Amino acid sequence: MIDSPLCHETPAWARLQAHWRQEASHIDLRAEFARDGQRLPTLSQRAPHLWADLSKNWLLPGTEALLRRLADGCGVLDWRDAMFAGVAVNTTEQRAAMHWLLRTPPDAGLLGALPPARGWGAGVRGALQETARTLQAMLHLADEVRADAAITDVVHIGIGGSCLGPELAVQALQHLAAGGPRIHFVANVDGGELGAVLGRVRAANTLFLIASKSFTTAETMMNAHTARAWFLAQGGSEDAAHARGIARHFVALTAQPEAAARFGITRVLGFEDWVGGRYSLWSAIGLPIAIAVGSAAFRALLAGAHAMDAHFLAAPPETNLPLRLGLLDVWYRDFCGLGSRCIAPYSHGLRRLPAYLQQLEMESNGKGVTRDGRPLAVATAPVVWGEPGTNGQHAFFQMLHQGQDVVPVEFIAAREPVGGPAEHHHDLLVNAVAQAQALMLGHASDAAHRRCPGNRPSTFLLLERLDAQALGALIALYEHRVFVSGAVWGINSFDQWGVELGKCLARELVARQGSGDWAGVDASTRELMRLSASAPSQL
Ligand code: F6P
Repeated sequence: MIDSPLCHETPAWARLQAHWRQEASHIDLRAEFARDGQRLPTLSQRAPHLWADLSKNWLLPGTEALLRRLADGCGVLDWRDAMFAGVAVNTTEQRAAMHWLLRTPPDAGLLGALPPARGWGAGVRGALQETARTLQAMLHLADEVRADAAITDVVHIGIGGSCLGPELAVQALQHLAAGGPRIHFVANVDGGELGAVLGRVRAANTLFLIASKSFTTAETMMNAHTARAWFLAQGGSEDAAHARGIARHFVALTAQPEAAARFGITRVLGFEDWVGGRYSLWSAIGLPIAIAVGSAAFRALLAGAHAMDAHFLAAPPETNLPLRLGLLDVWYRDFCGLGSRCIAPYSHGLRRLPAYLQQLEMESNGKGVTRDGRPLAVATAPVVWGEPGTNGQHAFFQMLHQGQDVVPVEFIAAREPVGGPAEHHHDLLVNAVAQAQALMLGHASDAAHRRCPGNRPSTFLLLERLDAQALGALIALYEHRVFVSGAVWGINSFDQWGVELGKCLARELVARQGSGDWAGVDASTRELMRLSASAPSQL
């Protein structure tokens, strides 16, 4: 495994601290644009399916070079190559992280872009062939469902990575979904969500997808059992030969096919444990996407992501967009002291992007120890939050312009509209550009309350259009960017042990409720449990 020092012990870390203190903390973006006619070309670039403008960020000439030295010192590109070679970079679970393989064309391979020493072993090659077969089966099923006039509704039950990616993609590609069934997503254990969906569908015309890598997640299992009971109560049958049988109306998407079989589902699309939950939309978990838009568009989604993989592997560091953005994230978090980042997709289709990125970034890098368990002395994942524009402008943009905290904003927009009146799209884009400009320029005024300080940083990602390829490239860009910042911090970005604690305690509370034994439980928890189980009048 690669020997990586703690990031704050590398010489580049101290250099960057000094660079911030002595120079960059005084940056004035307006003055930088006036001074440096090359600022835009230097700090903007093309990458697969998009154009990225980093020029409104707190970067001086020389900042990125120092950040690249930090990346070198932390072995970021070695870790990248290790991930793409199928090495078990998920160290706490002894697993590879090969979600990228799911979008690698079987005949292409990334070998050419990898140093020979890190080329693929037989295991990765075998996995690639297997993946291609599973993809084939999944797309066949997707097209079959699309062609089946009897299936008008698909209910996808899953949570976290088993929901957010598919939901984001289905919404983003809605304009390509003509002719397919309606897709509903149910994640929350709050029965209100499932109840609302079941109230809108007919059992005879519904296909349920039970999506869970582990097939043990409490919320998904409860929703799946309730959906199954509802289906049987609506005239469904456990008899596999029956037209209204569970066998025909339920499909499991899981890495645990035996568990799905025990649940009573015989139609299973599997995937391997080297696909992390929040990286799984490319696997069988993506079936609702393929059902929504068809197999050709799903392949285009994979192709777009693969193009970004190839870019991440082959582009030189100076123009390697995931590397640049991942390092920018470290710069803001650890040197500029900025604790959050706002995601502002100027696109109704991308309205779930902030939620998707919250899981991707905060579950991947919201950690306090390195891969080998050493405590980290530096800040890691920022709070990622946001809302689509222009809605956000009438909510929290006030704080972005005049609040006491500086929050880097990420604008994501598409050049071409994908439906709807063209003049709306023009307005949408103008608003995004104006907001980025306003954050930077600010506003001088005699009236203090009208003054906007400006000099507020933002990044602009402009897609050609919101099609399947561009969406694939955008998501893969974020995956790799998160990997880069995680690699600088020395984090294992592919586990999520922190999530376990709450799950365990929820199980324990259920057990205590049964036994009535509250010994050793704090007074607040005890009272909350008592009140939540009490008669309404007691609250
Ligand atoms: O929230 C924790 C988590 O393990 C996520 O990483 C994962 O995406 C989600 O739960 C769902 O897990 P599963 O697919 O196993 O149901």
